[in-house]
Amino acid sequence: MSLIPNQRHLFDIPEDVAYLNVATMGPLPLAASAAGQRGISRKLRPWTIPDSDFFTDTRALRPLLAKLIGADEAGIAFVPSASYGLATAARNLPLARGQKILLLADQFPSNVYTWREHARATGAVIETVAAAGNVSLSEALLNAITPDTGLVACAQVRWTDGARIDLKAVGARCREVGAALVLDLTQSCGAMVFDVAEVQPDFVVTAGYKWLLGPYATGFLYAAPHRRDGIPLEQNWITREGAADFSRLIDYTDAYAPGAERYDMGERSNFALLPALHAAVQQILDWGVANIEMTLGQQSRTLAQALEKRGLTTGPESGRGPHYLGALLPDTAPDDLTARLRSENIYVSKRGSRLRITPHLFTSESDIARFLGALDRHLG
Ligand SMILES: Cc1ncc(COP(=O)(O)O)c(C=O)c1O
Repeated sequence: MSLIPNQRHLFDIPEDVAYLNVATMGPLPLAASAAGQRGISRKLRPWTIPDSDFFTDTRALRPLLAKLIGADEAGIAFVPSASYGLATAARNLPLARGQKILLLADQFPSNVYTWREHARATGAVIETVAAAGNVSLSEALLNAITPDTGLVACAQVRWTDGARIDLKAVGARCREVGAALVLDLTQSCGAMVFDVAEVQPDFVVTAGYKWLLGPYATGFLYAAPHRRDGIPLEQNWITREGAADFSRLIDYTDAYAPGAERYDMGERSNFALLPALHAAVQQILDWGVANIEMTLGQQSRTLAQALEKRGLTTGPESGRGPHYLGALLPDTAPDDLTARLRSENIYVSKRGSRLRITPHLFTSESDIARFLGALDRHLG
């Protein structure tokens, strides 16, 4: 593993912009933007797009997405959003009346509403788990998994404050009691190491527009080997066996293409978005996720210390994602703090009473110095 030097030159971020908000939206690398623009231009001349190209981009990208999480490419499906992937998981994880669905307090809404609907449809019961006193969020979740738990849906880090979940332990406990595990890695995939072999989840979903630095409306789903024979949300032509032969598409078949491909969204072969996502994910793999994690971890550690000195607590480092800071704001902080910072070209977000600060490899020391200087002025 090695620290990665600053990568600003690969992005279109002016010197006077301090963009510390990847948790809201990651910037496209220049190369990904160029790939996307080349892709959309192909539609100017549709006659230059051969039938076989409906398969080229997904075939090339599936193994890269698999590599991000230590999976096999047959386990990967293309989805347009985390909520789509979560709905696919819900559809294929039947629960009995009275079984528990465990969620984290303050979990991202797409990963709450999906389960509310599932609970309504099945008679399962939602239980929301929160940290309490000395018991961390991760410990509280582990303690809550009991034999009547049917399903756990959580993240690797919580989107509001970066609180970290020990997914290896959660996975083991789920297997012990026979509960399904569904993970939303939108706020960690590409920035934190994750290994499906270690955690053994049933389904994993990731939106592509944050830490994968991809375009909006891209993402992927991973299905465990024993979850690859389920029912997709959509009954699409391209996920069927023999779809590559366009002249025979009306020889209808019930047989799906092998693996998790059956869960691919309709019009998955997006000629503009997939090349952009490919370029972004290739860049992440070139940097190496473990190296990104280490580099962002060091950056956040230094920043957390500077914030603590100003009375903004971020909690113990072991309890949060290395790339993710949610600093508790004092009661006296102005309501329009993020707007004030934005007016100085400093971009962070606020979730609840926390200032969410999520820089990346393009963040410079002067970005951080400007941010801290502005905080000193506005928090007085
Ligand atoms: C944890 C998490 N999951 C998912 C999403 C996006 O959800 P969707 O793709 O359903 O819009 C976000 C966006 O902020 C998020 O923070």
